[in-house]
Amino acid sequence: MQCRKIEVGTEEYEAAVRLRNDILRRPLGMQLGDADFERDRRWHHIGCFEGELLVAFLGLEEHDVKTLRMRHVAVLEKKQRRGYGTAIVKFSEEFAKSQGAHLMFLHARDTAVGFYEKRGYVREGDFFLEVSLPHITMTKSLIA
Ligand SMILES: CC(C)(COP(=O)(O)OP(=O)(O)OC[C@H]1O[C@@H](n2cnc3c(N)ncnc32)[C@H](O)[C@@H]1OP(=O)(O)O)[C@@H](O)C(=O)NCCC(=O)NCCS
Repeated sequence: MQCRKIEVGTEEYEAAVRLRNDILRRPLGMQLGDADFERDRRWHHIGCFEGELLVAFLGLEEHDVKTLRMRHVAVLEKKQRRGYGTAIVKFSEEFAKSQGAHLMFLHARDTAVGFYEKRGYVREGDFFLEVSLPHITMTKSLIA
């Protein structure tokens, strides 16, 4: 497995759009649209690959100079629970540190909170609705 940055406008980016639609949007009867693609231009995009196959994706949005927001975390359905989610989150935390970030935060789906807790993220506040699903803010300090 290899994790690396993906640039908008490449074939890898198109594969990432398909993965995000398949895992995060289509099950909700939704798909990514122009507003998402516009916003994508401002994110860092990270992918993990098995050979040429994109198996995991996430986006990193600069929230402020010391904080990155992790977004659209998705692992190919048939590859879930095999460590790819852990790998891409770890890679992204190292990338974030290399960018000078001190804090990572995200909005976790209720079904994924246990995954993030295993990676050291802590819950902040109460659940709220986003894309029609309960979510909760979670944070992790990136400095010792
Ligand atoms: C949630 C997701 C990113 C996790 O990635 P993954 O590759 O399946 O997870 P890993 O194999 O790295 O799992 C690491 C650990 O977290 C646990 N875990 C994985 N998914 C979990 C979940 N949804 N709830 C609770 N624990 C979970 C695993 O059992 C494993 O535990 P272990 O270390 O004790 O064996 C992935 O399953 C996914 O894409 N799910 C659907 C989309 C989604 O919910 N995205 C997150 C939106 S906020």
